[in-house]
Amino acid sequence: MEFKFSDNLKNMKPSEIRELLKYATNKNLISFGGGMPNPETFPMADLKTIMDDVMDQYGSIALQYGNTGGLNELRTEIVRLVRETENIKSSESQVLVTAGSQQGLYELSKILVNPGDSIITEEPTYVGAISAFDANEADMHSIPMDENGLKTELVEAEIKKLISKGKKPKFIYTIPTFQNPTGVTMSLDRRRHLIEISQKYQVPLVEDNPYGELRYDGERIPALKSLDPEVIYLGTFSKIMCPGLRMGFTVAPESFISRVNLLKQALDLSSSTFSQFVAWQYLARDEVKKQIPKTIKLYRRKRDTMFKALEQYFPDGSSWSKPLGGMFLWATVDSRINTTDMLQDAIQDGVAYVSGNAFSPARAQANSMRLNFTFSEDEQIYEGIKRLASVLEKKMSVLQPQ
Ligand SMILES: Cc1ncc(COP(=O)(O)O)c(C=O)c1O
Repeated sequence: MEFKFSDNLKNMKPSEIRELLKYATNKNLISFGGGMPNPETFPMADLKTIMDDVMDQYGSIALQYGNTGGLNELRTEIVRLVRETENIKSSESQVLVTAGSQQGLYELSKILVNPGDSIITEEPTYVGAISAFDANEADMHSIPMDENGLKTELVEAEIKKLISKGKKPKFIYTIPTFQNPTGVTMSLDRRRHLIEISQKYQVPLVEDNPYGELRYDGERIPALKSLDPEVIYLGTFSKIMCPGLRMGFTVAPESFISRVNLLKQALDLSSSTFSQFVAWQYLARDEVKKQIPKTIKLYRRKRDTMFKALEQYFPDGSSWSKPLGGMFLWATVDSRINTTDMLQDAIQDGVAYVSGNAFSPARAQANSMRLNFTFSEDEQIYEGIKRLASVLEKKMSVLQPQ
């Protein structure tokens, strides 16, 4: 059979990370590539107890189809979670449970974007968001960042330019806290400015916040959603419980949530009822409050180990971000090196990363790479950075002098 695929499929490209995950089973390869939480942080014993209790007490409903919007009890707990952690005020009708926040990204772009519509993203940005936006044929305009996050004055200039061409963007997508891939956090001033821009030009803001709870140093900065109730907020259980149950949520104005609900009816009827019961009990029993400090302790140590290894081994002229939380740092190397081309050599020498351009709608990050510090053992972090430094040095030794 020759399948006649839709034009839309042409926009869906294989992800470098997914390809990399194939190598993650190779025992000799040290991978800084995947965005995987460390399984040590999975609250296995607590989840096992919760799962048994769910089966005993709620089995007949937990194994049944559920509401499209999500289990009511879970939504009540999500309202409490975002209030207690991020000072976000919301109600159950403003919450929709999703199959991970990845589904939230797909849904929001599906309901807001017509093919060719402009949107604004960070440069670089989360590769899964690029996939979701590509799948919905968005025209991404990515705006550079610095150590204070998205350069909001450039966002405003871009919006003005697009409006003058009759192409007002449908939304601005940002990961303001411990951004994936850079690890950078947006300053409070920039957050305020971004909200001002969103209100002035009536362009909705999408705040994706999977890492907000994983802060290792410094003071919490208010979530955009806590400063402006109109913000579309994406949250997830992947980094504070585990990703395998595929539980996430969108918090947004009711007029928006009701439209996502319509789409979700067509996508999957509802997220897994069983996973929702587990997530509900995990929150209701306050297990999350026990787990997060343990995760923070482990990840802070791993981040510091990677900092030390980079200091020790990386060639002069390289630089890297100094994230105060999250799971990634962003390293920039000699401008003559293309990290996409170098990846095969690195894998051959037993180390993997994700190259900068995988995160770049503008394809402007050729000499950068994202390094995950949460998954590998401490000794592997040292060894992997040492291997990577030697790959870099070999490359640099055959380059023409600048
Ligand atoms: C910024 C960002 N958004 C969304 C996701 C998707 O997470 P999940 O679908 O597991 O909730 C991730 C996962 O790494 C992410 O880094």
